[in-house]
Amino acid sequence: MRNPDTSLPNLNTLYLACSGGGKSQALFQNKLIPRSKVRHVLWDPDEDHPARRFYTLPSFKKALVEELKRGRGFRLAYSGDADVKTFEIWCQMVISILDGAKPTYVTIEELATVTETVSRATKYFGILLNRGRKYGAQIHLTTQRGTEISKTAYNQCPTKWVGIQEGADVDRMAKLCALTPGQIKELTPLEYWLKQSGKEPERVQLEYKKIPR
Ligand SMILES: Nc1ncnc2c1ncn2[C@@H]1O[C@H](COP(=O)(O)OP(=O)(O)O)[C@@H](O)[C@H]1O
Ligand SMILES: [Mg+2]
Repeated sequence: MRNPDTSLPNLNTLYLACSGGGKSQALFQNKLIPRSKVRHVLWDPDEDHPARRFYTLPSFKKALVEELKRGRGFRLAYSGDADVKTFEIWCQMVISILDGAKPTYVTIEELATVTETVSRATKYFGILLNRGRKYGAQIHLTTQRGTEISKTAYNQCPTKWVGIQEGADVDRMAKLCALTPGQIKELTPLEYWLKQSGKEPERVQLEYKKIPR
């Protein structure tokens, strides 16, 4: 981590919806994330996003070092084993490249599968969440259930895309996100309540777009 810049905004975003709710779509279509010419690293276990893809951490790291030397934009995805230990090492690598003088986009899909405890984030993921902003990190997280990720992750994302939920999760999500159960129930796939700090929730209907891979 270098060149800290405390004036950088917190643009971290959380996408919450059940499977098929359109989380990967919402993330892919987010206009705040340029498609090219920026540094973008992805934890992408289901291979949902276009990127140069790696299945081991050493191969991911090697490509990252090469791209940093080249000094241009890149999209590098790790799509190997998704366990907490591997995720922590991956987060450590991401932290090491952060630079407050240039943005680094960080996509993390299906966060719940690499969450150890809901009380707080694991060590390096916690550093990424708590200190990444000053060093240019913009973190985009998806999860099916808001109750299965750490409070650190939830709290460090001022922008939330809240999509469809099923069964008991409707009430849980409504409570967590300060919406009414009725507001969650009326959503269809690819439809969201966009919650941004200091603003009223806004209902957004996305259109399906084919993601090139
Ligand atoms: N070929 C398609 N045409 C139209 N809509 C589609 C198509 N494929 C998927 N979808 C829509 O996209 C949703 C899946 O979006 P996705 O972002 O992959 O969900 P998630 O990441 O939340 O599991 C499906 O529920 C469906 O509504
Ligand atoms: Mg998905």
